Amino acid sequence: MDWKELLPLDRGQMERALRGFPEMAERALGLACRIPNGVQGFKNAVVLGMGGSAIAGDLLARFARVPVMTVRDYFLPAWVGPETLLIAISYSGETEETLSAFREGLRRTKRAVALTTGGALAALCEEEGVPWVPIPPGFPPRAALPSLLFPLLACFARFGHLAGDPAVIISSLKKLRDALLPEANPNPAQRLAEKLQGKVPVVYGAGVAVPVAYRWKTQINENAKQPAYWAELPELCHNEIVGYELAGKVFPQGVMIFLRTSFDHPRVAKRVEILKEVLFQRGLPFQEVWGEGPDPLSQALWLLYFGDWVSFYLALLNGVDPTPVALIQELKNRIRGC
Ligand code: F6R
Repeated sequence: MDWKELLPLDRGQMERALRGFPEMAERALGLACRIPNGVQGFKNAVVLGMGGSAIAGDLLARFARVPVMTVRDYFLPAWVGPETLLIAISYSGETEETLSAFREGLRRTKRAVALTTGGALAALCEEEGVPWVPIPPGFPPRAALPSLLFPLLACFARFGHLAGDPAVIISSLKKLRDALLPEANPNPAQRLAEKLQGKVPVVYGAGVAVPVAYRWKTQINENAKQPAYWAELPELCHNEIVGYELAGKVFPQGVMIFLRTSFDHPRVAKRVEILKEVLFQRGLPFQEVWGEGPDPLSQALWLLYFGDWVSFYLALLNGVDPTPVALIQELKNRIRGC
């Protein structure tokens, strides 16, 4: 495959954003200081967001030492109250579900912060005297994940609420970037994308890799413009696996992808070995990708960044520009007019 020939498809410059992911994360660590110490004393947190903005909440929830829930909806769970830290994330600042839940939340708690490039969310914060973190503009929201995630990780670390140190991950992300750039040869992300071409990926993860499996699915949807699905371990052993019985017939394009970390629960690791045997016996294809790094946070972000590159290369193999998300935009425009 001559990847150089495919690169002109990347008219929206997704490759530039992916290349800059580690540096974007590094700069974003510095934005944590925009979240004032005054919000401290919370017992739990809700992250309000949708799509590429919301995934930061899922990742934070896996490493926070206080309960964190991501809310992808117009309204909030009943338990949200004065002891809750409300975190609204919207890259554009214009997402109606996030704005609606944030307005409701501000009536229930005074502890609040938003992360956005501006828009209606920034205006609402100014009006209500709520601090907001100015996120650098100019990227598709999903490509700006480091800018949205790392201020939260660094702030929770400062408050003593984080398992892991976000600063130590940057150098391993840089190393991974060098191994996955278009010119890198051999290139494991390109190899995996080739194996996924014409297939429907079903991405599996356990523990810290659960939100990462979901990120793979959404990145393949949005960048490569194709169906992809996900499920989590060990739950999928109690339902999804029964579907393997007819998968060969009704889902011949399916490829299961196991995202692994060395921190998987030993019983989960055993389950994966059994699942691989079950798939093999039925002639159903699967792939396995292992995260690298000294701790769970490093391995989760390693797997996430690897998946972002896979989705980018799959887009090129599919002959599409990774950046535009025409159907998301169409839906937003149509619902705005209702
Ligand atoms: C686009 C993307 C979408 C948006 C979502 C919410 O790259 O990933 O999933 O993130 O439509 O929009 P924002 O992030 O602006 O609140």
